[in-house]
Amino acid sequence: MTELNKIALQILSNGKGILAADESTATMTKRFDSVNVSSNENNRLLFRETLFSSSSMKKSIGGVILYDETIRQKTSTGKTIPELINSSGSLTGIKVDTGAKILAGSKEEKVTEGLDGLRERLKDYYNLGARFTKWRGVFSITNKYPSNLSISTNAHALARYAALVQEAGMVPIIEPEVLMDGDHSSRDCLHKTSIIIRKCYEELELNNVSLEGTILKPNMILPGVNSLEKISNEEIAELTLECLRNNVPSSVPGIAFLSGGQTEIEATANLNEINIRNNTDFIMTYSYGRALQQSALKFWSQDVNNINGTQEIFDHRAKMCTLAAQGKWSESLENKK
Ligand code: 13P
Repeated sequence: MTELNKIALQILSNGKGILAADESTATMTKRFDSVNVSSNENNRLLFRETLFSSSSMKKSIGGVILYDETIRQKTSTGKTIPELINSSGSLTGIKVDTGAKILAGSKEEKVTEGLDGLRERLKDYYNLGARFTKWRGVFSITNKYPSNLSISTNAHALARYAALVQEAGMVPIIEPEVLMDGDHSSRDCLHKTSIIIRKCYEELELNNVSLEGTILKPNMILPGVNSLEKISNEEIAELTLECLRNNVPSSVPGIAFLSGGQTEIEATANLNEINIRNNTDFIMTYSYGRALQQSALKFWSQDVNNINGTQEIFDHRAKMCTLAAQGKWSESLENKK
């Protein structure tokens, strides 16, 4: 087993998953605005420190993805944030892309940037305690998109990023996110997500990335939010498994889904159904941002000093996700806190 494979398994094994707390300052400001909390450096630290010191960190959170601001911050007791995360046995991750920008050759689409100077930034992040990283490529579904240009440029960037990250001794999370926006069908999502994932692995192999030292972070296969299609959690699980079984090489150790705008319960129920039916060798778990933090953020916004109450809500969500990552969740458990 290689060192990178060990890191990937440490993050994903035993029902653990990833807390995606790597919202950029702009995104975090949007989240804070939605609950009327001022988005300043102190508040962002306070909310995140509250989550990272909760008791579910030990049992449920194998890794936390941070944003550049947070990895450099210190807690109220003087520890660095990576020290706080590591003290619960969890690993520190870092978002290293610099965001999705308009793609010059197809102006309605985006390409993720951040390769320039990445080798040097990775050294810095490793020294700050990071052991895994994230890069998100983003794709929209319409009649004409995603274009071949957007698929190939994003897959190429993801692969070059992954090769640099492995060179720096860290595990790259490969995140090609197909957005839920639009009125497309679940079949269309299956078809287009499959093409994108296949292209990513073609580029990863071309760039000599060791797949056993990577984690895939995909979307689940869902109809667009504006589609009239009705689909059950079971069908979502079947389609998602079909996509991954057919397009992800078997040397990939694990898959950690993004929640992508699903509610907390939807994201938990779908992950549970996926695990009940998981007939692959991949670990299937979560790497949720909103679906782990939404209720905790709402509660915290009422009284930012209510640390215990906020942690209780976060702990419950993390516990539910960990059960779902083992196919042991049921809706009745949601009310037993
Ligand atoms: P969501 O789970 O809120 O989609 O966030 C996950 C993530 O990291 C998106 O890049």
